[in-house]
Amino acid sequence: MALSAWKQAGESRWALRVNPSSGNLHPTEVYLLSPAIDNFSSTPLIAHYAPQEHGLETRCVLTNPIWKLLTEDYSEPVLFIGISSIYWREAWKYGTRAFRYCHLDVGHALAAISLSAASLGWHCQILENCSTRQLRMLLGLPDNHKNETEQPDCLIAITQTKIKYPVLSLPDQAIQQIALCDWQGEANVLSSTSVCWDVINTIAITCEKPTTQLSVANRDIHKEIMRQHAHLTVNAQQLIQQRRSAVAMDKQTYIQAEQFYQLISRLMPEQVETPFNLLISAARVQLIFFVHRVEGIKPGVYCLVRDSEILTELKQLMNEQFVWQKLKTCSEKLPLFCLLEGDAKLLSQKLSCQQEIASDGCFSMVMLSQFKKTLQNTGAWLYPQLYWECGMIGQVLYLEAEAMNIQGTGIGCFFDDPVHEFLGLQNMNFQTLYHFTVGGAIHDDRVLTLPAYGTGK
Ligand SMILES: Cc1cc2nc3c(=O)[nH]c(=O)nc-3n(C[C@H](O)[C@H](O)[C@H](O)COP(=O)(O)O)c2cc1C
Repeated sequence: MALSAWKQAGESRWALRVNPSSGNLHPTEVYLLSPAIDNFSSTPLIAHYAPQEHGLETRCVLTNPIWKLLTEDYSEPVLFIGISSIYWREAWKYGTRAFRYCHLDVGHALAAISLSAASLGWHCQILENCSTRQLRMLLGLPDNHKNETEQPDCLIAITQTKIKYPVLSLPDQAIQQIALCDWQGEANVLSSTSVCWDVINTIAITCEKPTTQLSVANRDIHKEIMRQHAHLTVNAQQLIQQRRSAVAMDKQTYIQAEQFYQLISRLMPEQVETPFNLLISAARVQLIFFVHRVEGIKPGVYCLVRDSEILTELKQLMNEQFVWQKLKTCSEKLPLFCLLEGDAKLLSQKLSCQQEIASDGCFSMVMLSQFKKTLQNTGAWLYPQLYWECGMIGQVLYLEAEAMNIQGTGIGCFFDDPVHEFLGLQNMNFQTLYHFTVGGAIHDDRVLTLPAYGTGK
C-alpha cells in the first residue's frame, strides 16, 4: 500500500503506489491491528498507515488481556489489517460511479496485501463473519466525519501458517471493549466543501453487513498448487514495486498462446490459491476475453469459466450464436471456450467507453459477475465483495503482465448495457463489473520517474 514512485512532468509531480487506483485517487485506507512485537511495540496497538511517510500513526493502545480476548480463537500469533474507503475521494470526480471504483480498488488492495504476505510465506483470510458495525468499532471510525465518511470494508487476518479451519469472526465482547478504549487522532479532511451523492449513501447503507455464520470447508492444506511459472525468475519485490498501468498500448506487441494460457491460469481460483483464498467464495466472476494479438490464438471472443457449475446456465443465457468450442491447444484444466472468431478490436473499444487501450493491446476483457439471483439469495452485503473479486483478478493480471514484460490497465469506465446486449444477457443474473486490458505499453519519455521515498515531496 506504500508509494512506489514519484512521477514528474514539467512542474507537476505526483506519487504512485504499489496498488493501483481509479484515477490515482486512492480512496482506500489501511489500519494495522498488531500484538506486542519485539523491536516494534511493547503493547498491542491499532494504527493507521500513512503512505507518504511510510509510517504508522497510533490510534489506540491495547492491553495484553484485551488482545488475548480478541484473538482467543487463534492457536498461533496473528495480526490484522483493516481496510476502509472514503467515497468522496472518488465521488468528487466520478459521481455515483465512485461506489464501484472504491470497491474495485479494495479488491486490488486485498490482492496486493495477500500476494505480499505470500511472498513472506504468510497466509491471509478475510474475517467474513464480522459485521460492518464491528469493523467500525475495531478501526475507530466515526459514523460521519465532516462529509468525508470513511466506510469500513473488511479485516484481514495474517498468520504464519495456513489454518485448516479458518477463523471468520472475532469475539464481540473484545470488540466492544476496544471501542471504549482511549482513541487518539482525527482523520484529515480533503475538501473544504463537498457534494452529497445520495445514491452512494443509500447503497452504502443497504450494503452494511450484519454478522453472519458462514463457514469454510476444511482446507486441504497439502493441496497441490498449479505451478507453471518456471519462466519467472523475477524478484517479487521488484515486480510489485515496478507495477504500472499502461496509459496507451503500442498496437503491435504480440504474446504467444502459451504465455496467454499461463497468465489466465493464474486467474483460476481452484488451481491457484493466493490471492483468491482470501474470500470464502471467489469464483463468482467469469471472464470474457477479446483476443487481439496472441500468436497461435485466432482473434475473437473467448470465455474462461472459473466456476464449472455455471457453464450450462451461461450457455443457456448467452447469445445463441456463441459456439462454446473448448480450446484444445491449452491444458485440459483450463476451461477456455471460443465464443466467436473475428476481429473484436472496435467492439471492445466501444464497450470500454471508446478507450483505445481496450483495442490496442494483446487482449482486453470483461469481468462478468453473478448478480441478481446471488444477491437475493445471500444479501445485499455481498455486492461490494463482487467488486473485490474483480479487483483481485485485476491485480493478478497487473503483476503477471509485468512479469512478462508487458503491462495491464484496469478499465473502470465501460458501457454495461451494450456489453450485456452483445453477450445476449437479458436479465440481471449476470452483470459486467470491471474491464481490463493487457498489452505492450507506450512509455512517455517526457515523464520522469523518481524514487518513492527519500527525495522529498
Ligand atoms: C478500478 C480501476 C479502474 C481504472 N479505470 C481506468 C480507465 O477506465 N481508464 C484508464 O486509462 N485507466 C484506468 N485505471 C488506471 C488508473 O488510472 C491507474 O491505476 C492510476 O492512474 C495509477 O497509476 P498506476 O496504476 O500506474 O499506479 C483504473 C485503475 C483501477 C484500479
